[in-house]
Amino acid sequence: DLAESPAVRRLADWDPADLQSLVGEYGSPLYVLDLERVRQNYRRLEAAFPDAEILYAVKANALGDVLTTLREAGAGLECASAGEVKRALDAGASGDEVHYTAVNPPARDLDWLVDAWRDHPDLTVTAGSEDTIDRLADRGYNGRLCLRVNPGIGAGHHEKVRTGAAAKFGVPAERAVEVLANAADRGFDVVGIHAHVGSGVSSDQLDAHREFVARMGDLARDVSEALGGSGLEFVDVGGGFGVPYREDEEPLELGSVADATREALGELDARLTIEPGRYFVADAGVLLTAVNTVKAARETTVVGVDAGMTTLLRPAMYDAYHPIRNVTVDAAAANGDDGSERERLPQTVAGPICESGDVFCSDRELPKSERGDVLAIGNAGAYGYEMANQYNSRPRPASVVVDGNAVWVSRQREDVEDVIRPERAASDGLKTTP
Ligand code: LLP
Repeated sequence: DLAESPAVRRLADWDPADLQSLVGEYGSPLYVLDLERVRQNYRRLEAAFPDAEILYAVKANALGDVLTTLREAGAGLECASAGEVKRALDAGASGDEVHYTAVNPPARDLDWLVDAWRDHPDLTVTAGSEDTIDRLADRGYNGRLCLRVNPGIGAGHHEKVRTGAAAKFGVPAERAVEVLANAADRGFDVVGIHAHVGSGVSSDQLDAHREFVARMGDLARDVSEALGGSGLEFVDVGGGFGVPYREDEEPLELGSVADATREALGELDARLTIEPGRYFVADAGVLLTAVNTVKAARETTVVGVDAGMTTLLRPAMYDAYHPIRNVTVDAAAANGDDGSERERLPQTVAGPICESGDVFCSDRELPKSERGDVLAIGNAGAYGYEMANQYNSRPRPASVVVDGNAVWVSRQREDVEDVIRPERAASDGLKTTP
């Protein structure tokens, strides 16, 4: 049963020979995503939250194959930009499966979105400020409206991803009744309230989660009372379910999170909506990268690989820990080949970018790396490719997906031409413009 699948897929659970041969076939660096694991993660979450509406936070991994897989499994899609809404619709989502969470939306996003809404009148827009509501009204939008509130409680794996108390997000919860009553008066179809406490919430932050959800429940009751009529359709408590990154970290007890959520919400005449991203995709993905240089530095051995902070930003941005494994060594060991017995020593795995923060780990004990080895970086399925960029004129890598015995390229590798093209187009444009 998919819902009974193991709660964690460790990097050690991947077959090293398979990973090694993917690099042989598709080159390096390479993102690999296992769709069956995405389905397993979805089923497990669905089993813990049987009454909830589940949206997938597209920002974690917007690959079309992921969106299609999760839609088919039953998820709706929570989108952070017009681009993500376009991807959701391209993946076959119907309007009622799409929520657009507008964080200070650029005018271009709103123009595009309101056009799309005319064709898909069931989509939901979640606004986080009165200006956004005004700007929607200016464009003739009077469709489904949800209000993002700032609950005043944050949680998550790093200061930079705790959104619940950061001033930038949402309308202060104490103003929600007034703002929504106003919107209803102006003809918006007020359907829900929303908040997101932060990303990577761990078991030891369950108290913060409980307090946050309780506040949302109270707020939902106040808003429903003020609105009269049928009240609110849903209360969206965001995403944020953490997953283990360290080898010895325990997974979130989903059952206790679900119980705590239900308990804190209390009796509520509205549907519970959740919108996790990371939970579905993090352990379904690895980043494969080849070793190009190995050198003895003063205090450590530096292993230079072909992926860098432009490929996977999380270590540089949040000091995030990702497990690392030498799949060349492990594949040889599984085969009983000579040379698989390499001494283990502390190594610093670094990328090709000219910044000292461009390291995936410092002084981590790994089998002695050699030129040509393939390393796998685990838990790369969430916020991996999504945060990749072209700094140092580095093209972004390819993504392949694995589904049972099938393997295919889901997104091609960029080349330097792809990096340069917009600039060349601009200079060509200048030549032809009088
Ligand atoms: N809903 C909203 C409104 C969000 O802002 C987010 C994440 C989610 C849902 C999904 O959160 P999740 O379930 O994936 O934790 N780049 C960071 C994470 C940023 C999360 C931003 N918002 C990282 O790599 O850790």
